[in-house]
Amino acid sequence: MRLLSLLIPILVIQSVWTKMRMIQFYGHYETGYFTEDGQVDYKGYVPSNNCSGDCYNDATCAAYKIIDPDYCEFATMNSELWIDMNLEAGGNQIIGIKTEIPEDTCPANYTQVDFKMVSPEGIFSWKLYPTGYWMFKMCWKDWSRFERSDGNVACIRVVDGSGLTKEQLNYECYTGNAPYYASLAGVYTVEESVWMREEAAMHSNGQPSNYWISGVRDGTCEGTDPHDMKATFKWEDNMTTGSTALTEANAVFSCKTEETENNCLVIMSQSSQIISDINCDTTVSIGGGFCIYELHREVKV
Ligand SMILES: *[C@@H]1O[C@H](CO)[C@@H](O)[C@H](O)[C@H]1NC(C)=O
Ligand SMILES: *[C@@H]1O[C@H](CO)[C@@H](O)[C@H](O)[C@H]1NC(C)=O
Ligand SMILES: *[C@@H]1O[C@H](CO)[C@@H](O)[C@H](O)[C@H]1NC(C)=O
Repeated sequence: MRLLSLLIPILVIQSVWTKMRMIQFYGHYETGYFTEDGQVDYKGYVPSNNCSGDCYNDATCAAYKIIDPDYCEFATMNSELWIDMNLEAGGNQIIGIKTEIPEDTCPANYTQVDFKMVSPEGIFSWKLYPTGYWMFKMCWKDWSRFERSDGNVACIRVVDGSGLTKEQLNYECYTGNAPYYASLAGVYTVEESVWMREEAAMHSNGQPSNYWISGVRDGTCEGTDPHDMKATFKWEDNMTTGSTALTEANAVFSCKTEETENNCLVIMSQSSQIISDINCDTTVSIGGGFCIYELHREVKV
């Protein structure tokens, strides 16, 4: 029995990997590996005379370029890649991509392949830009990836910011995260908010705290239709739309207390109704906030 329970997880991982293939072709490949301060770092160089086989066997390798007979460059977790497969562009580097291909198919050319790396961490899709470049990116270290049903892929993380105003937290998202220049995060689904509450709870050590997100009331509490005014919000992160996360079970709004309007949304670290509205200028019981950037946004390096 003991042996069996040890074997099962190994077999599952192997069955995921057997679907993966390496596709090798001529093209042009640009890459950036970022360090904490946004500088380019070439830790992707690995000694190998079998780039294709070694990349295949390395769970974090998504693609490679052959540098010379003894060296490859691996695109791994923290990389961004742009690959030009347009043969007319005259690409002359030998490049390989690890991708899933449906069983028993052999694509005649690259336009028929939806490049997608399946790894134990999840599925990482390549995106074809109108310029003919394929781009591959994973979320930067410490950021979590959210595939949204509108097709956007978001990288989100919690940041500490005890006693910071919403504006200060937004500035922190922008300046503290080069080269991505994040902003305060919008919440797209109830599931995202549940994840946020767990992160907030961990960061506030059991103290009830509020964490800024980008939602702001669309209207005022003085409107003629009290219900709509209370419950209509917009997200200020240029990426999040909709109000799927603002269900009655998941959000509770006060709108106004005494003379103070509570027009900005927060995640509450210790509450079953996760999202609430508070005074946009307050710093009381603020533990931090959530930053977001769009994974496939083109980044100038
Ligand atoms: C390269 O590595 C793969 C996977 O380990 C292996 O199957 C293949 O035989 C190797 N090729 C050469 C030329 O060593
Ligand atoms: C690849 O396939 C597409 C769509 O079928 C076709 O338009 C294109 O010309 C093909 N490219 C090459 C290089 O064969
Ligand atoms: C949203 O887009 C507008 C217009 O492009 C820009 O001025 C603004 O800075 C963006 N906001 C954020 C948070 O990225």
